[in-house]
Amino acid sequence: MDFALLTADGAMFLLRWMHVFFGIVWIGHLYYFNFVQGAFFAETDAATKNNAITKLVPRALWWFRYGALFTFLTGVGLITGRMHQGFNFASSWGVNILTSMSMATIMFLNVWLIIWPNQKIVIASATQVLGGGQALPEAPGAAAKAGLASRTNVFFSLAMLFFMVGARNLNITTSETSNFVALAVVFGIIIIGIELNALKGKMGPLTTVKGVIHCGVALAVVMYVIAEVLL
Ligand code: HEM
Repeated sequence: MDFALLTADGAMFLLRWMHVFFGIVWIGHLYYFNFVQGAFFAETDAATKNNAITKLVPRALWWFRYGALFTFLTGVGLITGRMHQGFNFASSWGVNILTSMSMATIMFLNVWLIIWPNQKIVIASATQVLGGGQALPEAPGAAAKAGLASRTNVFFSLAMLFFMVGARNLNITTSETSNFVALAVVFGIIIIGIELNALKGKMGPLTTVKGVIHCGVALAVVMYVIAEVLL
């Protein structure tokens, strides 16, 4: 009896299975924070909010950031496997996977380098208040920085998923004259521009849940059309 899972393709499949599991753990928490928790915090009383920030949020953030880490690591494993298989980056697959990986890697860095360090300040502040002390003066600024990076990750996530699932399921039309370099430059400008806004910019239309979902869908559509036009 042959077991398909006990082959090199089977190993890639298992890695992809784990990758999607960790991806759900990560992005599921991202959507919970942005679609559910933010609205609850806005209307609940201060004591309940501080209780949640010290007891619920740290647990959710643990699953969130380790989900992000293991999604990234299994993603690196998958791309290493694909490179061994000699997959060609100048192809529909290459455009899809390089675009989605760039966005997802920036999202992963936002989690560990912006959201988590700033959330630690917010949690420390709420812990002091619950212990009878003063709120940390830097807490509101930290919450705003984490919030903008988190909203930016939701914004990126729709286009990221579009191209990642597209890698093996959406055949973007390419030809001998396809200009992959021009596409990389245009996509690079778009992605870096959005990330610069996450670092120093404003919420703008990302403030509301409806706004960020509309922006996310629009980004996926605009990037897809640009890819078809330039390739
Ligand atoms: C953090 C950085 C990430 C990297 C480096 C990465 C990389 C990859 C790679 C290399 C593949 C394999 C493509 C192929 O089969 O040729 C893949 C597939 C996939 N990824 Fe990611 N990924 C990342 C994040 C995510 C996230 C956050 C999700 C959300 C759930 C996700 C969902 C998927 C799905 C569903 C597939 C399967 C596509 C298919 O087989 O049809 N990835 N990813």
